[in-house]
Amino acid sequence: MSTTPAPVNGEPLLSLLNVESAYGPIKAIRGVSLQVKRGEIATVLGSNGAGKSTILKTISGILDPRKGSITFKGQAITAQDPAYIVQQGLSHVPEGREVFALLSVHDNLLMGAYTRKDRDGVARDMETVFNYFPILRERATQDAGLLSGGQQQMLAISRALMAAPELILLDEPSLGLSPKLTKEIFEIVVRINREHGTTILLVEQNANMALNASDYGYVLENGRIVMEDTCARLREKDDIREFYLGMKAEGVRGERRWKKKKNWR
Ligand SMILES: Nc1ncnc2c1ncn2[C@@H]1O[C@H](COP(=O)(O)OP(=O)(O)O)[C@@H](O)[C@H]1O
Ligand SMILES: [Mg+2]
Repeated sequence: MSTTPAPVNGEPLLSLLNVESAYGPIKAIRGVSLQVKRGEIATVLGSNGAGKSTILKTISGILDPRKGSITFKGQAITAQDPAYIVQQGLSHVPEGREVFALLSVHDNLLMGAYTRKDRDGVARDMETVFNYFPILRERATQDAGLLSGGQQQMLAISRALMAAPELILLDEPSLGLSPKLTKEIFEIVVRINREHGTTILLVEQNANMALNASDYGYVLENGRIVMEDTCARLREKDDIREFYLGMKAEGVRGERRWKKKKNWR
């Protein structure tokens, strides 16, 4: 689905430099710098309220940053119009999925492709998402509001794919889903990355799933990045292991454990 060639100078696909965003007086992210390389799955881990969704909203243009800059494919996209950013090849799957409940699954998918003129490409990509998520083909004519939570998450990811993005921002796909469904969805996210070449920036509270699926990880605490490394190395770190194991002992919901953790360094 990617139509724009890679930049030749080897710079990251996406980079944030000292980005600060706020809601009125509440500073939600403070001096966030991170990079996503073309072809990888990068993840931002953090507890509820850490600022994960704010990072994604700031990248996709829903929220203008107070400070800092955001570069996508070598071009500044800081505080640009969300529709423009989608056209550049950057799609956002928001927290809580937000499908159009009264539209059919098929029409939801077409909404994802509304900026595209290549009808053949749209038809081909519809086929691709149906192959990733066969249940969506079965439910194509049903209203999206009738889908289960997991199926709506599949639809939200598929709708983002229909824009033929080079980078997908994925906000907590595991939220509210059973461990089994979460695993299924993560497996397909990894397949989309490996087979389709789509770069992914995933934010998650579910460190277990995110660290296994991703290549590179950042740990966000109170709006600041406090640690970053390859996920292979993050999985070996004591702080992360403690949390990671703690989370295992509690099942998939690790929030309480994560909140207790005062210091990642
Ligand atoms: N619309 C909003 N208005 C005011 N404060 C908000 C709003 N959205 C988020 N916040 C605050 O910003 C901080 C970061 O929130 P958020 O980015 O949603 O965190 P996360 O996605 O990691 O749970 C939190 O303190 C949250 O309460
Ligand atoms: Mg969030």
